[in-house]
Amino acid sequence: MNKITIIGAGAVGATAAQRIAEKELGDIVLTDIVEGLPQGKALDLLESGPLCGYDSKVTGTNDYKDIEGSDIVVVTAGIARKPGMTREDLLKINTKIIKEVSQNIAKYAPDSIVITVTNPLDIMTYVTMRTTGFEPQRVFGMSGMLDSGRFATFIAMELGCSVRDISAVVLGGHGDTMVPLPRFTTVSGVPITELLSKDVIQRLVDRTVNGGAEIVNLLKTGSAFYAPSAAVTNMVEAVVKDTKRILPVCAYLNGEYGKKNIYLGVPVKLGRRGVEEVIELKLAADEKKALDSSAEAVKTGIASVSALS
Ligand code: APR
Repeated sequence: MNKITIIGAGAVGATAAQRIAEKELGDIVLTDIVEGLPQGKALDLLESGPLCGYDSKVTGTNDYKDIEGSDIVVVTAGIARKPGMTREDLLKINTKIIKEVSQNIAKYAPDSIVITVTNPLDIMTYVTMRTTGFEPQRVFGMSGMLDSGRFATFIAMELGCSVRDISAVVLGGHGDTMVPLPRFTTVSGVPITELLSKDVIQRLVDRTVNGGAEIVNLLKTGSAFYAPSAAVTNMVEAVVKDTKRILPVCAYLNGEYGKKNIYLGVPVKLGRRGVEEVIELKLAADEKKALDSSAEAVKTGIASVSALS
């Protein structure tokens, strides 16, 4: 059985644990700084096993020692932006948390593959890679899958067709500067640019870019967790089963797309070794320009974090 650790037993972490257990992708360790929280949720999930028909073991802990020997570590630990808090405040707090978490991953699970979920995603994934000292292929973030899932949802709603036939591509940073790519987004192989008008596509792109905020506004407290945890589960499955699926993830670029020393959302081949290949799409001038400005925003974030240490 694979050992899959989830650090941060909050909304995304616990729901990911549920989805991973239901697919029996491995045994799960849930950990958090709040005492009792991971233990309680783990026990509840374990007791769901007989009812849902899974044998995955789920345990909860506050002790990093228990993550020893993990094959995969998913990091959702962090805080969400609260009213009155600037992005910089959030960046400072989550950077501190991610550094502490990463040091423990390096100590107790030195051979693991790490999937980051904590926001601001691209920057936190960079901090994780630098702090663990792991090869960049083993550290990547969940962003593009969620954004692509949202884009696919809106396209299916517009066309009145099944989401299953939609393959949506969203590149770039996870946030306002993400780059949905209509030209590469297809319905059973047909680009949506042939199926929908420019105006409609723009409306769907805008809704995708604001997808996270739309849910935050509805929920009032907290942010999305069903789709984020589903995206995490797909990524864990690709690694555990070595599927070599081509999925959009936040990956380290070393020259690809003309970028270096940065994490950015791009399509990759995901397998047992993590990011096994970065897939380079031939971008048109406007698409490249959008990706460039997204990369600039991420670079600025990384620079501000480097200035913190
Ligand atoms: N070590 C371990 N766990 C921590 C730490 C830490 N240093 N600091 C905070 N946590 C835990 C919290 O106790 C909480 O249980 O991380 C958990 C975060 O869960 P939620 O607040 O429910 O947040 P969630 O909705 O799961 O989102 C987690 O993913 O999508 C992103 O922006 C989102 O950064 C956020 C992250």
